[in-house]
Amino acid sequence: MNPKDKDSNTLFEKVRKQFIGLDTEYTLATGETERRIYLDSTATTLMMEAAHEVLERFYHHYGNTHSLLHFDAKIASREYHWAHERILDFVHADRDTYTSFFTGSGTTAGINRLARVFRDIRPDKDVAVVSLMEHHSNDLPHRKHMKEVIHTPVKDMDGNMGCVCLDSLEQLLKENEGKINYVALTGVSNVTGIVNPVNEAAELAHKYGALMLVDGAQMLAHMPVHMTIPHNPVQNIDALVFSGHKTYVPGSPGVVIARKDILNQIEPEEVGGGMVQDVFVDRYEVKNFFPDREEAGTPNIPGAIALAAAIDVLDRIGMDFLQEEEERLINMVIDGMKANSEIHIYGESDPNICKRSASVSFNIKDMDHGLVAAVLNDYFGIAVRNDCFCAHPYVKEMIMDDLFEATEDIPIEEIEAAFHLKRGMVRASFAVYTTAEDIKMLISALNNITERKEFYKNKYHVVNENYTHKTFTLKNDQRFTVLSTLEEILS
Ligand code: ALA
Repeated sequence: MNPKDKDSNTLFEKVRKQFIGLDTEYTLATGETERRIYLDSTATTLMMEAAHEVLERFYHHYGNTHSLLHFDAKIASREYHWAHERILDFVHADRDTYTSFFTGSGTTAGINRLARVFRDIRPDKDVAVVSLMEHHSNDLPHRKHMKEVIHTPVKDMDGNMGCVCLDSLEQLLKENEGKINYVALTGVSNVTGIVNPVNEAAELAHKYGALMLVDGAQMLAHMPVHMTIPHNPVQNIDALVFSGHKTYVPGSPGVVIARKDILNQIEPEEVGGGMVQDVFVDRYEVKNFFPDREEAGTPNIPGAIALAAAIDVLDRIGMDFLQEEEERLINMVIDGMKANSEIHIYGESDPNICKRSASVSFNIKDMDHGLVAAVLNDYFGIAVRNDCFCAHPYVKEMIMDDLFEATEDIPIEEIEAAFHLKRGMVRASFAVYTTAEDIKMLISALNNITERKEFYKNKYHVVNENYTHKTFTLKNDQRFTVLSTLEEILS
């Protein structure tokens, strides 16, 4: 191990144990009280203690960045400014070319905003290209704000469901040259965890006169991101959006990083206090500097500062290091699942063909995804998400593929009906605090479930479309409620 890796490893081992909620315990349907294993980090991550500690200390100096001369306003303004720059450095975005700004509570607000900006600065190009694997937040905004959206496939030429197919993307860009405003692509699928070659896609987009927008929601906490590639600037990403709540700081805002020259071409999408130089009864003058002109209103200052603190910690460990660690865990998951013939993993699962990050989605033969997720929670204390993960077209495509293979001669209406019965998957997802022990528990739980399907099926009924245990429920003293917490604090 070289000295740098040794330092990374030491910090990694320290930080990964310091997340709020890792020691939360619940009493399960077995009667045992167990530590909850959180495998739903793709939905939202747990809070990093270091960032939380920064936040707690900052609250003693909290003030509005729009105020000027008191100590707290100065402290808040300086640290808020630092947060913007820290984020730019984290994604390797050159500070002269790019700005970062905070908006909304996740990725969705930023993507909606950029779709409108791109539409308005280039009204003659009214088509957006998105991939078929997008989360709705990187699909619906383009459908709403652009005249047309074309979905580029994620199957390779042999029909395997992998990352975005660059050959198909290029063909599509060529066929529609002159009409395509931008390509919007997720860095990592929130369903399969498959990683897309975003810089290579940017090169293609630029070759055909399109801009490149990356949804970094599932990427930022898991792998290095390079918005600028100094030796090959044609691969630079024009804009990227991500969520603070998926980057170890629940309650922090969404983030946009974008080229200043793009944003400068039109008046900012949102107007209000803080983004104007001067206001008269009949007109107003927008500030001509970033990020102020893009941030109308008092921002989520604590959330932004805590997010930048979390990012600083990740960078101290090293994103290459973190990516390798996570790949090791994902390979363990995939190997464990592949050893059980009852488990079907979605998407290309050979790491030599497609890299994965953060998520693996699967189904167990003859068991509904909702039942598997409920059993994992109630009997094993393992928290996962199920259903379609706000990525309906992608999930549908993968499930239909399976049904088609199995039911070649069956009419399409029947296949569609079968899809409606079966739509959904189970997703296990990982983060810096996930351990090899957590993975072993998951695989062992899945093996148990596949061996005892009838036992578990008999324990549940479906209430309001959700699997509910017939007799077991969470103990009252293990529930959190705001009011009981207030009673305790105020008594
Ligand atoms: N985008 C989040 C997920 O994939 C909510 O679960």
